[in-house]
Amino acid sequence: MPQPVLIIGTYNPDGTPDAMNAAWGGQWDANEIMISLGSHATTDNLNRCPVFSVAFATVDSLPAADFVGLVSARKMPDKIARTGWQTVPSDQTEAPVFDVFPMTMLCRVKEKLKESATGCYLVAEIIDILCDEQYLADDGKPDVEKMRLITFDPVHHAYIELGKKAGDAFSDGKTLI
Ligand SMILES: Cc1cc2nc3c(=O)[nH]c(=O)nc-3n(C[C@H](O)[C@H](O)[C@H](O)COP(=O)(O)O)c2cc1C
Repeated sequence: MPQPVLIIGTYNPDGTPDAMNAAWGGQWDANEIMISLGSHATTDNLNRCPVFSVAFATVDSLPAADFVGLVSARKMPDKIARTGWQTVPSDQTEAPVFDVFPMTMLCRVKEKLKESATGCYLVAEIIDILCDEQYLADDGKPDVEKMRLITFDPVHHAYIELGKKAGDAFSDGKTLI
């Protein structure tokens, strides 16, 4: 804790987008992420197409971000229509990029660890990162303070808003060297 609130975007067989909430995931290697993935419509979609999007949920997208973690496209065909999310045009068309998120990664499945009927640990390579210009810092890199990202608290099943910068990594500790 805290865990990220990742929104995994894929396409259903009929071409409509799907999204699910995943909090059991994170950085695996420098350019790779890992997601503990159960058996979902998303899992089926990933078996057909290994490219998917990963967006970071925000305060503004919170109710719909929770909703996509509560219902499955297997049972609710108009799942994404209910969120009001729109897909934005992107250079690659294999994975949906939703308009509501400040930052979205495009990933490709690299490995499925311990795969079974109930899911797997998905390792994926990050192939691109898209960030809305209004969320860039002066140095041209993503500024998470501007995005109002949320994290997941598994103890209270709560979403917590990320706060302000607290220090400089690989630097502030030098005062004790
Ligand atoms: C806060 C939260 C976190 C979740 N984290 C995960 C996760 O890490 N892995 C997973 O497989 N499912 C996770 N889920 C459940 C899926 O999001 C959920 O089963 C979803 O309905 C799957 O949608 P789909 O069948 O349309 O793909 C989470 C749900 C919530 C609400």
